[in-house]
Amino acid sequence: MEKSDFPSKLLSSKGSIAKDVSVQEIRISYNDRDNLLLEKNIAVKEPFNLFNKWYQDVRNNPSIKEPNAACLATATKDGIPSARYILCKGFDSDGFRFFTHYTSRKGQDIEQNPNVALTFFWQPFYRSVRIEGIAVKLPFSDADEYFRSRPYQSQIGALCSDQSKPIEGRHILWQREGELKKQYSEGNVPRPEQWGGYKVIPNAFEFWQGQTDRIHDRILFRRPKEGETVDNKYCFQGENNWVYERLSP
Ligand SMILES: Cc1cc2nc3c(=O)[nH]c(=O)nc-3n(C[C@H](O)[C@H](O)[C@H](O)COP(=O)(O)O)c2cc1C
Repeated sequence: MEKSDFPSKLLSSKGSIAKDVSVQEIRISYNDRDNLLLEKNIAVKEPFNLFNKWYQDVRNNPSIKEPNAACLATATKDGIPSARYILCKGFDSDGFRFFTHYTSRKGQDIEQNPNVALTFFWQPFYRSVRIEGIAVKLPFSDADEYFRSRPYQSQIGALCSDQSKPIEGRHILWQREGELKKQYSEGNVPRPEQWGGYKVIPNAFEFWQGQTDRIHDRILFRRPKEGETVDNKYCFQGENNWVYERLSP
């Protein structure tokens, strides 16, 4: 599916976007009409299964270095939003897991308001998955297990940081790094007390596939509303109590 989709007239001799190309001019080809996301081609009408299928498609693509990178959106209890990237460290029918500092801005948001959104984008495939759901803390035993598996420098890096708090300068972090390395040898770095995992339990997944003709595909899987029955026109029954519908691009 991957191809060079940038019009050659917009490229420099090095293959990057030419200097005189404005933001407005950037326009590339996505998928062709022989590669559509059609309901009949979704073998199992269940979003975890489809997510896994898409993930397997992208994970071995050499141009995608971090197929597990996703943008996590949170909001305060007053609805002030913020978004940042995280690395998903596991997913299954229980949800999508990531690790962070509970005292960070995102952690504080989730404390007040567990509603979150998680968006993956896999550029060479022109595919994106939007997930909406509830974030819940994982047990600290999971955090310990994952923390132990991290390289020494990553463990020290986590311990150095009071994530999202202002600091005087980078030198403070280096100073702290030096102290911590003296204090803790490899294999003995303790997990920061307030560093742990979350699981995002989805209540909706949207699978988006970009098309060159800009008539993109969007299939939304969601939980049915109370008392809702599918009409088999707009909304269809999926598996495991999911319903699905096609959204206009
Ligand atoms: C690709 C990528 C992956 C990242 N993964 C994580 C992660 O897994 N956990 C984390 O706490 N921050 C991660 N970060 C840093 C966050 O985007 C963010 O800067 C940090 O978590 C502080 O966010 P907050 O102040 O909104 O809480 C990542 C950044 C990028 C660009």
